[in-house]
This record gives sequence, structure tokens and C-alpha cells, in this order.
Amino acid sequence: MLDNSVINDIRNAVDIVEVISSYVPLTARGKNYFGVCPFHDDHSPSMSVSKEKQIYTCFSCGATGNVFKFLQDYENISFLEAVARCAEIAGIPLTLSNKKEKREEKYQDLFDIYEISQKFYQNNMNSVEAKEAKEYLHNRNLTDDIIKTFEIGLSLKASNLLTKLLKKKNYSDKTLLMSGLVGEEERGMELYDLYRNRIMFPLHDIRGRVIGYNGRAYHGEATNKYVNSKETPIFKKRDVLYNYHRAKESARVKKEIIVMEGPMDVIRAYTIGVENVVASLGTAFGSEHAMLIRKLSSHVILCFDGDAAGLKATKAALEELTKVGIEPRIVRLEDDLDPDEYIQKYGKETFLKKLENAMNPVEFKEFLLKSSTDLNNPVDLANYANAMIEEISKMEDDTLREVSITKLSEETKLSLDFIRSKIGKKEKKTELLLPKEKKKLTKWEKSERNLLYYMLRNANAIKMYDKKITHMPTDKYRRLGFQISSFFRQYGYIDIADLLTELRDDEEAVETIGELSMISLREEMIPEEIDDYLRNIKEYNEGLQMDKYRHELSNSDNYDRKIELAQKLVSYKKRSEEDNGRD
Ligand code: UTP
Ligand code: MN
Repeated sequence: MLDNSVINDIRNAVDIVEVISSYVPLTARGKNYFGVCPFHDDHSPSMSVSKEKQIYTCFSCGATGNVFKFLQDYENISFLEAVARCAEIAGIPLTLSNKKEKREEKYQDLFDIYEISQKFYQNNMNSVEAKEAKEYLHNRNLTDDIIKTFEIGLSLKASNLLTKLLKKKNYSDKTLLMSGLVGEEERGMELYDLYRNRIMFPLHDIRGRVIGYNGRAYHGEATNKYVNSKETPIFKKRDVLYNYHRAKESARVKKEIIVMEGPMDVIRAYTIGVENVVASLGTAFGSEHAMLIRKLSSHVILCFDGDAAGLKATKAALEELTKVGIEPRIVRLEDDLDPDEYIQKYGKETFLKKLENAMNPVEFKEFLLKSSTDLNNPVDLANYANAMIEEISKMEDDTLREVSITKLSEETKLSLDFIRSKIGKKEKKTELLLPKEKKKLTKWEKSERNLLYYMLRNANAIKMYDKKITHMPTDKYRRLGFQISSFFRQYGYIDIADLLTELRDDEEAVETIGELSMISLREEMIPEEIDDYLRNIKEYNEGLQMDKYRHELSNSDNYDRKIELAQKLVSYKKRSEEDNGRD
């Protein structure tokens, strides 16, 4: 295990602003940098990155952390991998003794089962029983090389080969059933393979681990052409894009990502050298897909099937991507063809042209409108112009907007001024969101919060807290106060980013630190203010105590105790009157 001080040195050797800006464009504003938060679906710049404190906070979704946490969540890697990544950026040689060690993973069994099954299915492809499946794939113009590259496998006709193999490895029936690869006829009956006699396209998570399958029937009788594996704790269909882990690199290099519907489309594109392509596995395209795609590139081309279902999917994907601030370009293929068929029919060059000439969202809307409009009919023409103006007013790229305005004017013979004035009325400014306080805090809550704010920044505030504090009333604040104080005792300094490393597994604490870094207080600590906070908290606690005494007083039968309680209450009252007099 790495020493904490080594970890902190590595963190100090990289600049969070530089690291984050290699993923998300950041704009400087005052002391902080702002960008679109990659951890929720939104396109306002709600994530703030502090160069000074070396942390980021999203004031919309609350995501908070240091550079390690950002890399962990963005790249979906473990803490140690994030540390290693930073060491690499900083050029610090790092010998991780346990680099190869299996990371702690709650569902490690499921990942292992999928790894085993994938090797098993892939191996089946080389057996004599694979003759027909191989022929099928060859007939679809997939070479053995491609079959290998995409790790395409085969489930065989026999009913329990995989189950037997897994049982030999001592997995419990419960785990096997949970894996989604094994079923049981009835409770307690023999287990059997859910996939039989299908060509198996493995599905991976974004780290490249197999987590599911798209199994394709390859001869007559099957009812469903494709069967997806069941959802499991590690496989949520809405979070998966086929080929994501392979397309990652190429998408970054080409600064563009293409989205299709099925594995066959992706694989076909790959055969003509188009590698920056993923598939949504059918037509359901949701907000999770949009966020995954946004991580790869902001230049997106939608290239779904040419049929009506593909058109519907295109509209849905366009909408989801727009929500996360992406204006994708769109390809529509003729004659209901899918990319696989189109490429085989028309060849590489024609398809590449198609990609090059992809429509922008406005051209796409225009394409849709025109297919249902007669531009010689004045009413249709007016409707068309209004709809186009609506679209143009939503455009964020102003060059594109100007081009579109000119084009619309030529088409409709409406004057540029007229179109511009109509657009001007619709335009809405996208404003920078400002952090807003969610609920009104009480006096003592504010005191707790402000006290912690300064404790996170200033050792003197911690010392004052250590000397005076009895008990913070709010649970999460009390816990954090304690954690800050013990961090300081252990290391002799305070630093938010290092504290975040220390508390990385404590979600509540991280969230509270996020909350605290959003409030705007003076940076400089004034000791008298800290005294005030401490006193407010003490008073509140005493008040609570007095309430208890009052309650006891009216319920007690013990005369001596009653006198004792009354005296306590009187002296408390006197003290607080003196205090108020002093204020
Ligand atoms: P398509 O029906 O367009 O299949 O479904 P395809 O991509 O052309 O496949 P081939 O060329 O016939 O082999 C698109 C995608 O939707 C998912 C699959 O992932 C498929 O690749 N799908 C389709 C299912 O999950 N289940 C189905 O029954 C059909
Ligand atoms: Mn097809």
C-alpha cells in the first residue's frame, strides 16, 4: 500500500485545473474555473474548479472531490489507478506492488463468471460444432480476424455446458442464477444455460470488462433474432454502448464519435477503417448514453438504420444529446438500409461521403419538415418558416446560425431583417448558474457550517474548535468537525484536497465538504467570528439542556431534585441575559 504522504505528494505534483481541462473545457472566472459537469446530464457550466484549493464542486449535482476522485469517476477507475495516472502525468516513478492485484470489487464473482464465459464461448467458435456458425459469419463477410478482434463467440446446442463449467469452479447456484447466464426450470431443479445455439457478441463496460451478451440466432427456428442478457448488478442496458471501450481511443484522436444501432453495423464500419463507432443496442437511446458519449467527444454523428424505427431513434437520440449540450450531426441512409447493408452495397467511399455530409440538427429538422411540406403552398411555407426560425433560435454556434438564416431567407424569400427580428424575440440567454442556498439554515446551523468552513482552511480555527467545542448539534457537521480535527492531529496541517483523499470512502463527509465549498464567506479568518460561532453552538446546546431540565422539573416528584433543577435554570437565565446584554 502507498504511504499517505507519497499520495499527497503525487496529488500536489499535478494541477487539477490542467487535468480536468483535458476532459472538460474550462473557463476562468474570477479565482475559479467553470465547466459543464460530466457527472450529471446538463449543459450549463455548473462545475467549479478551484486552482487554489485543488478541488472541484458541482453546484447542481453536488459532485465534489480532488483530482483523484475526478479521474476515478470520469475514467471509472479505482483510487490506486487514479493515483498511478497522476504519478504518470507528473513523471513520478511509482512502483505499485499491488498494481496487478485484483481490486476489491463487490461483484467480483460476476465479473469473473463473465470472463470465464467469454473465453468459453470464444473457444467454442473453434470447435467442429461451430461449422455452421462460422459459415454464417463468413457469408456475412466477417473474416476470422474480425471474429477474433470482436471476441465473437458461440453458445452450443447442449443445454448445460457453461453451467457445468462454472459449477466446477465452485460458484454457488445463487451466484450462477444472478449472473443472468444460467436459469432453472423450477426452484431447486437442475440449472441450465440460458444461451444456446447463438452467436455471442460480448458487451463490455467502459473499462473493457465483459458484462453481458447480445446473442444472435443464426439459423431458422429461433423466435428472437437477438437476445440480450438479463440485467444484473453489473449490467444495466441503459449504461452500455457496444464497442465503447474499443472506440474510446480512436474517438479521442479523431475528435468524433459515430453512433449506430447494432453490433453488426459497428463491426462493418470497423472493416472499412472507421473505428470511432459505438452502438446503442437497438433503438432505445437514453440520457445515460448521452452522457457516456459526451465523455468521448462533443462531435457526434448519429447513423441509425434507414427505416422508420431508425428515424424515431434518431429523433430521440438528438433530443437526449441536445439536453447534454451536444449538437450531433445526422446521417440518414436511403432505402431503409442499415449501415452494415449500406456499406456492403455502396462501398467505403460512398459511406465516408455520407458521414462527411452529415446534416446538422437544423438541416435535419429541415429535412423532416420538407418531407411533409409543399413549399409552393403559402400556409405550408409559413409553417415551415416558423418551425425553422424556432430551430435556428435554439442554435448555440453563431456561425451556423448565420448560415442557416441566410439559407432560410433564400428559400422562403423572407427578408434577413424579418427573420432576425423574429429570432431576436425568441432568443434566451444561457446564464451562468449561481450557487443558491437550498434551505434557510438556523442560527446554530449557520454557526456550525461557518465554523467548519474556516476549519477546512485554517489551522487556527481547528485549534479554537479543539479548545472550546463540546458537541455540534447536527450529525453530519459534528462528524466532519471530528474528522477535520483528527486529520490535523495526525498530519499537523489542514488541506481540503488531502482531506478528501483521506475521507474518500465516506460519501456523507465528501458531500458535506462539497456543500461547504459552495458557500461564499470571506477567505480570511477572524478569530472573533470563530468565537461567536462557538458560542452560538454552546448556547444552543445549553438551551436544549435547559429544555430537558424544564421538562424534568414539571414531571419530577423529588423535592430536592426540583430545587436543584430550578437553580440550574435560574443561573442559566442569568447567564444568557448577561450574554445578550454584552452583544
Ligand atoms: P436490427 O434488427 O436492426 O438488427 O436491430 P441488425 O443490427 O440489422 O442485425 P443483423 O444485421 O440482422 O444481424 C438492431 C439492434 O437492436 C438489438 C440488437 O442489438 C441489434 O443489433 N436488437 C434487435 C435486440 O436486442 N433484440 C432484437 O430482437 C432485435
Ligand atoms: Mn443488419
